[in-house]
Amino acid sequence: MSRSAHPAGPRHGDVLPEGHYTPPPSDLNSLDPRVWAQTVERTAEGALSVGGVDVRRLAEEFGTPAYVMDENDFRARCRAWREAFGPDADVFYAGKAFLSRAVVRWLHEEGLNLDVCSGGELATALAAGMPPERIALHGNNKSMEEITRAVEAGVGRIVVDSFQEIARVAHVARRLGRRQPVQIRVTVGVEAHTHEFIATAHEDQKFGLALAGGQAAEAVRRVLGLESLELTGIHSHIGSQIFDMAGFEVSARRVVGLLTEVRDEHGVELPEIDLGGGLGIAYTSEDDPREPHEIAKALGDIVTRECEAAGLAVPRLSVEPGRAIVGPTAFTLYEVGTVKELEGLRTYVSVDGGMSDNIRTALYDAEYSVTLASRASDAEPMLSRVVGKHCESGDIVVRDAFLPADLAPGDLLAVPATGAYCRSMASNYNHALRPPVIAVRDGEARTIVRRETEEDLLRLDVG
Ligand code: LLP
Repeated sequence: MSRSAHPAGPRHGDVLPEGHYTPPPSDLNSLDPRVWAQTVERTAEGALSVGGVDVRRLAEEFGTPAYVMDENDFRARCRAWREAFGPDADVFYAGKAFLSRAVVRWLHEEGLNLDVCSGGELATALAAGMPPERIALHGNNKSMEEITRAVEAGVGRIVVDSFQEIARVAHVARRLGRRQPVQIRVTVGVEAHTHEFIATAHEDQKFGLALAGGQAAEAVRRVLGLESLELTGIHSHIGSQIFDMAGFEVSARRVVGLLTEVRDEHGVELPEIDLGGGLGIAYTSEDDPREPHEIAKALGDIVTRECEAAGLAVPRLSVEPGRAIVGPTAFTLYEVGTVKELEGLRTYVSVDGGMSDNIRTALYDAEYSVTLASRASDAEPMLSRVVGKHCESGDIVVRDAFLPADLAPGDLLAVPATGAYCRSMASNYNHALRPPVIAVRDGEARTIVRRETEEDLLRLDVG
């Protein structure tokens, strides 16, 4: 009995089981340009192509699962951010979203700077030739080794996050005979409207030094008193996957407030402020993200207004988008292994990856969309849950999605907007082999991060 003849599970228009559904598009084959990389399209044959390359060819040549990244889209987004902020601001790409040598080269060529938050990210940035003065080092517990490597390399900025770290960076810089530029990470006390685990500006959490209660002002005193540190500015990052500009505006206002206090107390005008990253992207058609030029205008206006009111020279602004640059540029390509219909509930579609290549659904209840990628179909929409092959029922890639009812093993599915925080948070759970990242551009596809092998796993296992 074919599923299309006897569709199991609810259809669009039925009373659906509990959950949050992005309504099925009127045509399941259509692609919403907000969630797909720029060059993705459905060809006349019905399959998706990206950068002029058919996904069936990608699956054949590189295997599945695979992250497929649209290089031209990545570069275009870099340029859009650079142009939106202009020559008086700096855009630091947040490497934690996804970092590889190729990405570092693209950033370099497109005139972006790079925020790294670990020795590993720093090593990747340096190995790929990012000029050290365009690198900022972050982290709430940088090791002495990481600090030493960063100061030795001559990174342009270390963002200090605690009193202990101020002393550590000062010590390392003194020992190496350097004067290290630093910014102080502050918590401005705003509740960003996002998942608790990715909100970082309320006071009860591990990052930064609070403006309220004077910790941040005390940090300024300490840094200014240390010869081997050069205090260049104040840093605030309020959280991630945020759509509402209000939190950024409060943050900008409070950071400028601290600059004013610093001027009044020390007679020093700090030349920089960094308002962090965190701008949301569209994972489904229901998300409506702001464009870089709107963000640049909103932030630029508020900083200028507040500085003018306080009689301060407008400092050089920087921002640190990660997700907003790389997120939409990639999709994950999976092959369907099994299709299991649960009468009256939904259909479980198992793919050849799962929580090891995308932990975001399990960790943050993230919502994704999905499409049949290897062919078009005009079958009925079927309420589906796309799950992985791991030994947990929470191993969900897309919680609720409509897929065509004639879906079958061997079909390819593509989950868009997986460029950020998917490969970079991938794990070897169940000894899964982490998928490759394939960059596609102008009709050509190449591996930029190769697929892990069983030999890679066994190489670490030295017992
Ligand atoms: N700057 C700082 C200091 C950060 O901590 C972060 C992200 C960013 C910039 C970049 O934020 P973005 O523009 O990418 O939102 N794993 C979570 C996100 C954690 C973000 C951590 N910090 C997720 O998958 O949603």
